[in-house]
Amino acid sequence: MSAEAQNQQDFVKFDPFSTEFRSDPAAYHKQLLNHSPGFMVMEGDVPSAYVAKFDQCLEVLGDWQRFSSVKPPNLPGMQRVDFFNGQPVMNYSDPPEHDRRRRVVNPAFSPGRVRQLSEATDRIIDQLLTPIERGQAFDGFKEVANPLAVRVLFDEFLGIPPEDQGIFFEFASTFYMLDDLKPGDPKPPEYLAAWAKGEQVCRRLLNEAREGGKKNVLGLIAAASESGDLSDAEMMAMVCVLFTGGVPTVSAMSASALHYLAANPDIAERIRQDESLAKPFVEETFRIDAPVTLVMRFCTEDTKIGDQVINKGMPVYTMISVANRDPDQYDNPTEFNIDREKMQHLAFGKGTHVCVGNSISRMVIPKLVAVAVKRFPDLKADPSKAGSWLTTPRSRHRDAVPLIA
Ligand code: HEM
Repeated sequence: MSAEAQNQQDFVKFDPFSTEFRSDPAAYHKQLLNHSPGFMVMEGDVPSAYVAKFDQCLEVLGDWQRFSSVKPPNLPGMQRVDFFNGQPVMNYSDPPEHDRRRRVVNPAFSPGRVRQLSEATDRIIDQLLTPIERGQAFDGFKEVANPLAVRVLFDEFLGIPPEDQGIFFEFASTFYMLDDLKPGDPKPPEYLAAWAKGEQVCRRLLNEAREGGKKNVLGLIAAASESGDLSDAEMMAMVCVLFTGGVPTVSAMSASALHYLAANPDIAERIRQDESLAKPFVEETFRIDAPVTLVMRFCTEDTKIGDQVINKGMPVYTMISVANRDPDQYDNPTEFNIDREKMQHLAFGKGTHVCVGNSISRMVIPKLVAVAVKRFPDLKADPSKAGSWLTTPRSRHRDAVPLIA
């Protein structure tokens, strides 16, 4: 009997891109974890699968041959997550193409480069926290987390001057317009205009980096394009991937870290006494608030995961933020606990595509935490204001964290 014939696929009504799921994912966790892998019919009648259990997500992410990252052309639904204008990027490719693209930027993430970035990070954190006085109300996202990510990643890491950064924000601010696209719809004109403007800026910056012999990330990308390792389209897409992969996620996790410090004064006190606890604190923040909620894979052959067969051709929604709260992996998974025996989580993915920026994130955010506990020993949530979340089909993060220093 074929694997397909043995299967008991019960298709449920679930849309991981829906606003219902995005606004209250916790309401779905139990159902998703109890029926994983699960199956649903997505836009365009495409039979699709999700995996939500921690060990099943590991299996999928660890097997790029059976679970490819290459989006099948014209698959309905994908127009909503085609953030890079159909351009080839490392996230959406498999080895050896993936490895060739990733190798170009790898040196920028070496321990030596991260150390260099660490000095600039200390300075930026100091500059951002110094104007905030004890007892003052402030927004942890807008006044600290977001500018920290922008300055560390844009100014220092990518080396994009502040006057050229606006277009990338303009571009990212059009992503929500992709949400309502139907198969075959043209891309929104605002999105296309921002992409075209961004492309021009990228070309100029890369030319300048090439001529100036710059050794930063732009210099690496420019050199690769010159040696023929990267096409023009890949070059532009690479800059956008680094920006969209890094800035929103590091802002989000820095904001979450401030939120959990304010919510857990006893833990903040322990970190004040022992700075090394900033690391497990941040790992727990990554686990519980993973900003990338799901990553997509495409099944290349019938494959058994758990007690179900996922069929060749099915898109597979790998629900990493649900897996990070799997009770078979973590005791009391909704509790914020920095003393967990098992700290392994999937916030950075796993396998071939594991986040290339994880070393930078794991340098920046613990530093913020270590300084914040010292500067703001009475940090608490501002009871007069509500926090808020921003969601996209693949991400969910805090974008307002009202605090009192
Ligand atoms: C806390 C912060 C971050 C989180 C939670 C995060 C999350 C992730 C996740 C889940 C993936 C895997 C995607 C997949 O499997 O398809 C990923 C990949 C990636 N991330 Fe991050 N990321 C973070 C920071 C960064 C930073 C700072 C950068 C760059 C400066 C970055 C650039 C990338 C790139 C380029 C990839 C694609 C890697 C590949 O396909 O080989 N990320 N990230």
